[in-house]
Amino acid sequence: MPVSPSSVGPTQVPRLPAEFVWGASTAAYQIEGAADEDGKGASIWDTFVRRPGAVRDGHTGDVACDHYHRFDEDVALMRRLGLDAYRFSISWPRILPTGAGKVEPRGLDFYDRLVDALLAAGIEPTPTLFHWDLPQALEDEGGWMERDTAYRFAEYAAVVAERLGDRVKRWITLNEPFVHMSFGYGFGVHAPGRALLLDALPVAHHQLLAHGLATSALRAVVPDAQVLVANNCTPVRLRSDARSDGDTAAASAYDVLHNRLFNDPVMLGGYPDLSAYGMADASWGGLVRDGDLRTIGQPLDGLGVNYYNPTWVTAPADPAAGLPFDLAEPEEPYERTAFGWPVVPDGLTELLTGLKARYGDALPPVWITENGCSQPAGLRDQARIDYLAGHIAAVAEAGARGVDVRGYFTWSLLDNFEWAEGYHQRFGLVEVDFATGRRTPRASFEWYRALIASQRP
Ligand code: BGC
Repeated sequence: MPVSPSSVGPTQVPRLPAEFVWGASTAAYQIEGAADEDGKGASIWDTFVRRPGAVRDGHTGDVACDHYHRFDEDVALMRRLGLDAYRFSISWPRILPTGAGKVEPRGLDFYDRLVDALLAAGIEPTPTLFHWDLPQALEDEGGWMERDTAYRFAEYAAVVAERLGDRVKRWITLNEPFVHMSFGYGFGVHAPGRALLLDALPVAHHQLLAHGLATSALRAVVPDAQVLVANNCTPVRLRSDARSDGDTAAASAYDVLHNRLFNDPVMLGGYPDLSAYGMADASWGGLVRDGDLRTIGQPLDGLGVNYYNPTWVTAPADPAAGLPFDLAEPEEPYERTAFGWPVVPDGLTELLTGLKARYGDALPPVWITENGCSQPAGLRDQARIDYLAGHIAAVAEAGARGVDVRGYFTWSLLDNFEWAEGYHQRFGLVEVDFATGRRTPRASFEWYRALIASQRP
């Protein structure tokens, strides 16, 4: 008898390989709080949240989940969950308050304590070095529009690796360089709030160069480091009523911007054709210098994939308006998350098998570094359980079709500061009362705990 999605018990999810890593993800600005404690410098998010209208209801990450003071409690929750690994991010301005130069030892001490607490709980620390909280001092110099920021990032990576590299072996350089470029510098809806549209493209190259330089820096300090980048990837779909040549061209152009611009250089050592974006010259007008693509394209130990939903596009209604696609809504009546995002688990199988088809042997082992959903407040979150069950089954299906997937990190352990949405979107397995900091595990927490236990060999 077919199992209806809302009755998928943890033991009914297909088995992943015995060594499969079960994890959860968070990010510094979204959970830590302690925004100016222990010498931390300002990040672009500390600045952006103070811009009137930038964040819903003027929420800020000043306190957030207060994880900075409550990390022991959070690690205890992770231990109860039975996590193999925990993906968190390191706040660059905690370590280098002005982005470069003087190191703040108290910032390093915090992550040192966190790493030790995780290891004592049997959980592998998996830090991301950049999850969008650029030091404001570097933004004042031009931020990711400037090549120098990439060199500063590599120096910061080395400082962190010197301190944590004896215990931390799996590293993620950047989180979602596509989203940071487009939301932060293209449309201005995230920090630093610059609306440069297509003039934001240098942000892609400079982040990718930063990834490459930091990869070398990490490997120089930690010879047995495994280095990944976490890219937001989306399968691009057309509506069934929209299949003209213009629609197909729009889908391909969107795929180039969202996926290939960030995946091709790290796996193939070259950029895709950007002529749909008015960039016909391979050196991007001199921005891409000799040797850059070798630095960016050095072998990776794994590709981090953050997946939330597919993207539907059509040919642009007004081709003169600037972008070679329009975003569209699917016609299928998909369930929606509280954020309004369609729930499409088979999109994850499509994405993973598509990556394998495109990159073949150049595709390193894949790690799902984020996947999860916002659901209404409350502890009985059956819709989140269904979401997780469907997407984990989709990962297993991709594995059965030959994609080497090594781990799954759900987004997120805790309700947290959801960027421009403030505290209005709840992605946590654990509910957080933001007035008191109180944490309460949801039904999905118990489900994920039982799933992990049932998957143990
Ligand atoms: C980001 C997270 C974010 C999540 C949900 C991802 O794009 O990496 O920081 O909270 O999506 O929007």
